[in-house]
Amino acid sequence: MAERSGEAIAGGEAFGRASEAVTRPPAEAGKAPGRGRILLGVTGGIAAYKALELTRLATTAGHRVRVIQTEASTRFVGTASFAAITGAPVLITEWEADPLRGAFPGDPPPAHAPLSHLQLAETADVFIVAPASANTLGKLATGQADNLLCATALACRRPLVLAPAMNDAMYEHPATQANLATLRARGAIVLAPGTGALGSPGEWGVGRLPEPPALLAAVEAALAATSGGDLDGLRVLVTAGGTREPIDAVRFIGNRSSGRMGFALADEAARRGAGVTVVAANVALPRNPAVRYLDVESAAELGAATAAEFETSDVLLMAAAVADYRPAAVREDKIKKTEAEVELRLERTDDVLSGLVARRRDGQLIVGFAAETGAGALDYGRAKLARKGLDVVVVNDVAEPGIGFDSSENEVTIVSAEHERHVPRASKAEVAAAILDAVLSHRSSTTLRV
Ligand code: CTP
Repeated sequence: MAERSGEAIAGGEAFGRASEAVTRPPAEAGKAPGRGRILLGVTGGIAAYKALELTRLATTAGHRVRVIQTEASTRFVGTASFAAITGAPVLITEWEADPLRGAFPGDPPPAHAPLSHLQLAETADVFIVAPASANTLGKLATGQADNLLCATALACRRPLVLAPAMNDAMYEHPATQANLATLRARGAIVLAPGTGALGSPGEWGVGRLPEPPALLAAVEAALAATSGGDLDGLRVLVTAGGTREPIDAVRFIGNRSSGRMGFALADEAARRGAGVTVVAANVALPRNPAVRYLDVESAAELGAATAAEFETSDVLLMAAAVADYRPAAVREDKIKKTEAEVELRLERTDDVLSGLVARRRDGQLIVGFAAETGAGALDYGRAKLARKGLDVVVVNDVAEPGIGFDSSENEVTIVSAEHERHVPRASKAEVAAAILDAVLSHRSSTTLRV
């Protein structure tokens, strides 16, 4: 009871704030690419706590969020938290009036009092159910509408993203798998749960809810697919991470690249509507369900995978740190420490980028990265643009502390034959957005010239 009265207060305040904030009519609101009205359904499960973080990430990113909870989910997380983060009341049953009348924060509520599930389904751009319990998946698969969440899903013509989370035996049960297959066949986007520690102590298996950034990425990809982001229809190939060149059975020569810049580029491109493939060299970062990943280890593997994918790509973003040298001979066993000194002879690897530039077809745009150190970094990067025949080169000084390799920030200069743009120190997500802006403007200027 205490929780419900808290929710009523939070809802009332939110309603007041939202009606004051009305500035745009609903038809024009939220049309910026990738920003939208997200309807979030939360069902009963231990992972429901992650839905709070998803809500926070989504609102911070500029989306408007409304939340529908099932009764069971309120035993795991309270409505007051969602209401506070979204600035809008949380709905649980269809028997309760919605103070916002099915509008999203910032939109004017309709003059009449519509049925909340119909109005929310109508106004939302995307509906995500996270976590989606086995029970709710079963109801959605058979079209039941015995609570507000399921009724809204039935009435919803927008993309439906489902993030199953449950015990591994429940997830693997043929009934759950059949329900998921039915939902997929009907067009629902079903996110693969992760494998790892589950709810109860000692429990391990498949069924973990993806982490909130991955959930948001999936929602943004669904939004981009419907709203037509500015990279809509473009096929973007990204290389990310650092290659490892084997020395013997257990050792390798590697580098400090974490793959963060490449993964940020992939996330941003997917968010803006591109079809994205990442050739990932030894990257241990969370993955975006909207992106396709091909894992490789060595420069040779990266070269082969990238060459195969390049054929069908419009844009190549070559962010990986590819080894320039590899051991000339790889020992199959483990080298023993019996000798005082070991000599390692290195040979050149193929320059993947140069190979691809040589066989590019018309309209393919190639972006290279120049990780340089110290004074002259920019000049060296400019020279690389011409020497490697690139359309754009992204230059950064990796000697600067706190940016570049294995850090979450970067500071770069984006260089093309006609333009140069310095991007001061910013998150890799912001730098990725600036790089993709440069890609777009380069594409449109070359298209205009043709
Ligand atoms: N690159 C590549 N294949 C390699 C090495 C690098 O495709 N074997 C790509 C990188 O992914 C990056 C760009 O080339 O996009 C720049 O890499 P870098 O090694 O810095 O450039 P080089 O032209 O090799 O210049 P140098 O080593 O002399 O600085």
